Amino acid sequence: MKTLGWLKSFETGNAFIDDQHKKLLLCLKELAILVGQAKSEETHAKCQELQHLVDSHFADEESFLRDSDFPRLDKHVAQHLESSESFNRICSSCEDACKGNSAGPCLPNLAIVLVDHFLQGDLDFKSFLQMKGLANGNH
Ligand SMILES: [Fe+2]
Ligand SMILES: [Fe+2]
Repeated sequence: MKTLGWLKSFETGNAFIDDQHKKLLLCLKELAILVGQAKSEETHAKCQELQHLVDSHFADEESFLRDSDFPRLDKHVAQHLESSESFNRICSSCEDACKGNSAGPCLPNLAIVLVDHFLQGDLDFKSFLQMKGLANGNH
């Protein structure tokens, strides 16, 4: 799979959130490299690492939004749950492909869920963070 790099359009402007999003993309990239090398056990472990990173990112982001009094938190939490379930579904249906050293459709599908999270999910709070002075760039 041609791997996806960080794009300016993914930025929320909040360094805490953007750093975690970058780590998620990096983990996906590492997963793509392992798949290309046909390292079945390591690939499976990396996939589990990505799932764990996604879940801990969602928890951190929800705490941050709760502390910032984000008004659409409930809707956002529901979206996280949906994305997390999609991740689990993709990873469990790909288990055999991964252990058999074939790429399967998991990588592009995981990339879609991740990019949807950045662009459909999290851009919903970008303007809110700007209004609150919580989007001060990543420098
Ligand atoms: Fe989110
Ligand atoms: Fe996020």
